[in-house]
Amino acid sequence: MTKALVFQMTSLKSNVLRVEKLSVSYGEHPVLDNLSFDLGKNEIISVLGPSGVGKTTLFQSIAGFIDIDTGTIQIQGSLYDQTKNKVSYMLQKDLLFEHKTVYDNASLPLVIQGKTYEEIKGKVMPLLQRFGLENTENLYPFQLSGGMRQRVAFLRTFLMGHRIALLDEPFSALDTITRSKMQTWYYELVKELELSTILVTHDIDEAILLSDRVLVLNGKPGKIVKELVIEKDKNAIESFPTSHAFLGYKKEILKYL
Ligand SMILES: Nc1ncnc2c1ncn2[C@@H]1O[C@H](COP(=O)(O)OP(=O)(O)OP(=O)(O)O)[C@@H](O)[C@H]1O
Ligand SMILES: [Mg+2]
Repeated sequence: MTKALVFQMTSLKSNVLRVEKLSVSYGEHPVLDNLSFDLGKNEIISVLGPSGVGKTTLFQSIAGFIDIDTGTIQIQGSLYDQTKNKVSYMLQKDLLFEHKTVYDNASLPLVIQGKTYEEIKGKVMPLLQRFGLENTENLYPFQLSGGMRQRVAFLRTFLMGHRIALLDEPFSALDTITRSKMQTWYYELVKELELSTILVTHDIDEAILLSDRVLVLNGKPGKIVKELVIEKDKNAIESFPTSHAFLGYKKEILKYL
């Protein structure tokens, strides 16, 4: 099968990312079929779907880690070669280095970018506080709670420095209470940092709570079977899950899973 990569230089108005007619396969095994969607500036969208439907594959395509069969991926004014450095990608597992401190784990992207010791310190120290990690810089991952580990992983992702964040099931390993706290925390954080986010999840409540739009992926190969706009009062996020509207969205999504 010929793998064609067509990335276009386009101005995307308020869209920071556009995926058009994307199909991906592993060898002869098709995984994603004809996906099209946009990501707006400062928008959070969720990609929701069962295990094995191709959610991580979608991220790996956008990040430029794997070849696509057909379709286009446009990331604001960028050709494919540069695309690899256009998104901040948080992997499905937190993958902290156990032998490195919180500080060293978080600063890794800046070290890779060749920043100086002073630049790194000036950037990381204030953010540790913003990410709820004050006074943890010298701790090792095994000394942290699950929620703290995730915040280190979020900080490391943020320090990759891009305005598009791809988050692959960032909350799935957390217990219910920690997860709920982390979701609200992240929601406030992205509003403040102006990150456009694609969140992969198989948790329907999480998708509704955090997103402006939900894309439901289903089938073999995976297709977008439903796109749902979520309207909510962004300043009253904590009461949203118990609202009538929330339940309505949930019922609608369940029809497609
Ligand atoms: N490197 C690979 N080579 C061959 N097949 C793969 C590879 N990676 C994933 N697959 C297959 O592609 C399909 C989609 O996998 P993917 O990891 O994208 O699913 P997912 O939606 O992220 O699942 P989960 O919710 O379990 O993380 C699966 O059938 C999987 O077995
Ligand atoms: Mg996955």
